[in-house]
Amino acid sequence: MGLLPEIRDVMEEYKEMLFLYRSALKTLKYRLEVLNDEFQYVHNYNPMETIKTRVKSEESIIRKLQMKGLTVTLDHIKREIEDIAGLRITCSFTSDVYRVVDMITRQKDIEVMRVKDYYLDPKPSGYRSYHMIVAIPVHLMDITAKVKVEVQVCTRSMDTWANLESKIFYQYGGEVPVHLQRGLRECAEMIYYLDNKLLEMKEDIKD
Ligand code: GTP
Ligand code: MG
Repeated sequence: MGLLPEIRDVMEEYKEMLFLYRSALKTLKYRLEVLNDEFQYVHNYNPMETIKTRVKSEESIIRKLQMKGLTVTLDHIKREIEDIAGLRITCSFTSDVYRVVDMITRQKDIEVMRVKDYYLDPKPSGYRSYHMIVAIPVHLMDITAKVKVEVQVCTRSMDTWANLESKIFYQYGGEVPVHLQRGLRECAEMIYYLDNKLLEMKEDIKD
């Protein structure tokens, strides 16, 4: 990437700072695994199917700041970008999505800073997922740092959809042809229907 020297310096510092975000992701993932194991032990099944983590790439940090009309400084990165550390949990059923959200919310030392329920209120694209910005404590040698993580909780089928949708989005540089947008929205609706239907059937078995 041919970056300006001043942006390159900031991004060097960003790489050092990433250590903290990676540690937050490790910590949170480990804690979620413990909760999942406990749930398995008590209720005999896992509400979380997969837990994936990623830190935001340099390119997408720069792109996002530019989109917000901000200069690339470490301060802007720290203050304005809430998804430097991202963690996505997938569940089999919609009911598990809320169960997992509740488990996270009840952790006393995890601060839930903001939530967005795109299950109740889907994005125009058709995207449905539950988003939380949480701050979690990371214990270092001398201090305890509070680090922000963006948590997304969705069903496995919606995760498949979201991966494809973002691939298409990037492929077309954000200008997705109308027929593909419509196709994606239709698929998202079918997935919503399917997820609800499967949940209904699961509840029936329980009764
Ligand atoms: P961003 O600036 O994209 O982070 O959006 P935001 O700060 O308004 O937060 P929002 O909760 O809307 O979205 C955060 C993240 O959710 C995105 O970075 C994506 O990972 C995911 N996301 C949101 N909307 C969509 C969508 O329509 N399609 C897909 N595939 N992912 C989405
Ligand atoms: Mg975001």
